[in-house]
Amino acid sequence: MVREIVVYPDKRLKMVSKEVERFDEELHTLLDDMYDTMRAKNGVGLAAIQIGVDWRALIINIPLENIPEGEDEQPKENTLEMINPVIIEKDGSTKFQEGCLSVPGVYEEVERAKHVKIEYFDRFGEKQTIEDDDFLSIAMQHEMDHLDGKVFIEKLSYMKRKKFEKEWKKRKKTS
Ligand code: CO
Repeated sequence: MVREIVVYPDKRLKMVSKEVERFDEELHTLLDDMYDTMRAKNGVGLAAIQIGVDWRALIINIPLENIPEGEDEQPKENTLEMINPVIIEKDGSTKFQEGCLSVPGVYEEVERAKHVKIEYFDRFGEKQTIEDDDFLSIAMQHEMDHLDGKVFIEKLSYMKRKKFEKEWKKRKKTS
């Protein structure tokens, strides 16, 4: 089921999400709804708080490249579901132009670690480890920030942030 996206500057985006304790039906429904919502909005990732649920859960689904015309480039089975993720290694740095379904239409360059290694639980409560030094690394760091109440625009320089806030206010008034 597609749920409503929480849009900046909604206060819920500042919440520090809670650890998931039960890997049950309720969690599975949440993850399924997160996928439906992400797809409906053409996103590549979503944290639970972005649909108003303060649980440490996120999903990522990076579109497949070079697939036959008409085939789904973000099949559900390709979705990375991360519960209670923790970064256990991080190094290097890289810049990437990021966007966020909670700040629609805004794309800004953000600096993050290049490589991360993360421990997390899958939807069945099995412990998993993943590492990456490419787009997935950026996406995981972006989504994990949401679990701690952080949005990517908070990483912008003072001037860029000011400019963003001004334009965002203007846009909200006219929409
Ligand atoms: Co985001």
